[in-house]
Amino acid sequence: MDHFIYRDGQLHAEDVPLAEIAAEVGTPFYCYSTATLTRHYRLFDEALAGMDHLVCYAMKAASNQAILRTLGDLGAGMDVVSGGEYLRARAAGVPGDRIVFSGVGKTRDEMQTALAGGIRQFNVESEPEMQVLSAVAKDMGKMAPITIRVNPDVDAKTHAKIATGKSENKFGIPISRAREVYALAASLPGLKVIGIDVHIGSQITELEPYRLAYEKVAELTEMLRAEGHEIKRLDLGGGLGIPYERSNEAPPLPTEYGALIKDTLGHLGCEIEIEPGRLVAGNAGIMVSKVIYVKSGEDREFLILDGAMNDLIRPAMYDAHHDIIPVAEPAAGVEQQPYDIVGPVCESGDTFAKQRMMAPLATGDLVAFRSAGAYGAVMSSEYNTRPLIPEVLVHEHQFAVIRPRPTFDEMINRDTIPPWL
Ligand code: LLP
Repeated sequence: MDHFIYRDGQLHAEDVPLAEIAAEVGTPFYCYSTATLTRHYRLFDEALAGMDHLVCYAMKAASNQAILRTLGDLGAGMDVVSGGEYLRARAAGVPGDRIVFSGVGKTRDEMQTALAGGIRQFNVESEPEMQVLSAVAKDMGKMAPITIRVNPDVDAKTHAKIATGKSENKFGIPISRAREVYALAASLPGLKVIGIDVHIGSQITELEPYRLAYEKVAELTEMLRAEGHEIKRLDLGGGLGIPYERSNEAPPLPTEYGALIKDTLGHLGCEIEIEPGRLVAGNAGIMVSKVIYVKSGEDREFLILDGAMNDLIRPAMYDAHHDIIPVAEPAAGVEQQPYDIVGPVCESGDTFAKQRMMAPLATGDLVAFRSAGAYGAVMSSEYNTRPLIPEVLVHEHQFAVIRPRPTFDEMINRDTIPPWL
């Protein structure tokens, strides 16, 4: 459920008509709903009620500080994957002891930044990384709390580019080698082993892969405890999918996911962390764009929008489906027609949808891409020297620009010409 709904024939974000935002900030833009972000965070928090837990929002999904502040104020922790994300979370007011640091390639600098500022734990992904973290922490006179990310060799049954839990993926250490890697961790100075981490992929639309992975984690917990390690925290990653195509998708709900966690791991008495990104932010955001031209091809009609692949890359990159709806509600019973919906960027990959059935649209009409809150703005670029599009946050009847559109001068003046030219 989200808070983008038609009211009086106009698509609203909570109580604000999107056409009003478009008139003020121009198109294209991203728009997020505070109520939806809040609702999604709470669904996870409530799903884990009864267990000691922390929901660490995977901020890579949407990292504007206004979003982080909204979630942080509700009590959320953050899952960060770079020094930049760490500093951004801190700037948004999230305390270090609610930040977990994931990622396969943490650098010394990033480790130092997090150790100096305070960190809940590092999720370590390899032995070389562990050696470096040990050395960095020791030099700083600190103890780095760590979990080790294990790769359970489970098929998450998702798009190949976002599956992470198979042995051929670059993530984590093979679960079969966990015993020796934990023994190494226990022998190194500067490290305090506190638990296990696992994350098997993203846009996961069934519970079975989670069950398989979490059963392996339960077994591993008992084995490591028997070896004398203190395993008090389990970080279970993120990945729960969302319905992108609302008419025919119904992925499992956070409550069902929470029940599975209790079922597979509840008996261990561990503190549970989860790292959802997409389910928190995905349907809490849309991208609004304007029709520039309607162009007739040989055998099809093209809707040429002012938004493009550089603004929302998911269709080009993952063949992802996004529902696209008109901002002005079409009259009941109006006949739909197929459109190829494209952006102005100079490559054929700049196609959002082919032969999508839509009510007839004309130049100047606004459309909204649903489910664009996660991996939308954060993956945008200035390709074709197109400005990064603004982000807007709505709260009931108020809205605020939370990242303005840069001017062309700002963009162009970032380049510097070397002295020999
Ligand atoms: N934890 C870790 C360690 C991760 O690598 C990820 C996502 C998450 C949590 C959050 O997963 P989520 O709950 O959002 O599924 N750009 C792609 C998705 C990449 C996901 C990368 N890792 C897309 O647009 O589909």
